[in-house]
Amino acid sequence: MFPSMRVIVFASQKGGSGKTTLSGHIAVEAERQGAGPVALIDTDPQGSLAKWWNVRKDPAPAFIQSVFSNLFYDLDSAREEGFRLVVIDTPPAVTRAISEVVSFADLVVAPTRPSPHDLRAVGPTVDIAEARGKPLVFVVNAATQRARITSEAAIALSQHGTVAPVTVHHRVDFAASMIDGRTVMEIDPFCQSSQEVSALWKYLHERLQRADGAVSGQEDHAAVANSSNRVFGRRAV
Ligand SMILES: Nc1ncnc2c1ncn2[C@@H]1O[C@H](COP(=O)(O)OP(=O)(O)O)[C@@H](O)[C@H]1O
Ligand SMILES: [Mg+2]
Repeated sequence: MFPSMRVIVFASQKGGSGKTTLSGHIAVEAERQGAGPVALIDTDPQGSLAKWWNVRKDPAPAFIQSVFSNLFYDLDSAREEGFRLVVIDTPPAVTRAISEVVSFADLVVAPTRPSPHDLRAVGPTVDIAEARGKPLVFVVNAATQRARITSEAAIALSQHGTVAPVTVHHRVDFAASMIDGRTVMEIDPFCQSSQEVSALWKYLHERLQRADGAVSGQEDHAAVANSSNRVFGRRAV
């Protein structure tokens, strides 16, 4: 038996909500906290996460090059190769393909900015998670310190589902750290941004552990592909 592997899918139809930023940060933090080996998968054709990983010096977390149609096979191989966590980034859209990706999730994370536009856009993500019977957690991201709209956003989101008790605030170090393939924790592990990521990972980890014993998302599927294109320790394209 291979050790159990968990899959976190970052999804939200809103572009710019923080899916790619938090996918990279949570994968690195999970690895740092001993939950690895961790692998990343970028299903967004824009490839922002892949480009970030390409300029990264540390080969961990690994990057698995996959496409929607190969996901079943690639996740299965990742499990056999001993990965314990896979973090999947998705494009900002609501499509059947994204719904398929969500079907592999043990946990769906929807980063949401505290803005009226973002809040109004959560419905389809909630619908996809519900249709697939997957637990969904909202994360308020890029919040302004002490702004009333931050708490109002958390209240509004709680009408739709679980809101992570950790808010990630708007700080330039999130963007700056990713320029050369790093994360805020790798620039300054003690800064506030790092502490928020660390607290967020602890919460998500706890949620995954709570789901332990439940059937893993992947086991619902029949094989749909027979080739993979994984990249371990070299550049993703
Ligand atoms: N907490 C944050 N603080 C500051 N900037 C952020 C934060 N989260 C994301 N960003 C920035 O917002 C932009 C969109 O984030 P991104 O992760 O690419 O969103 P998505 O993948 O959902 O489209 C990027 O420029 C990113 O650096
Ligand atoms: Mg993105």
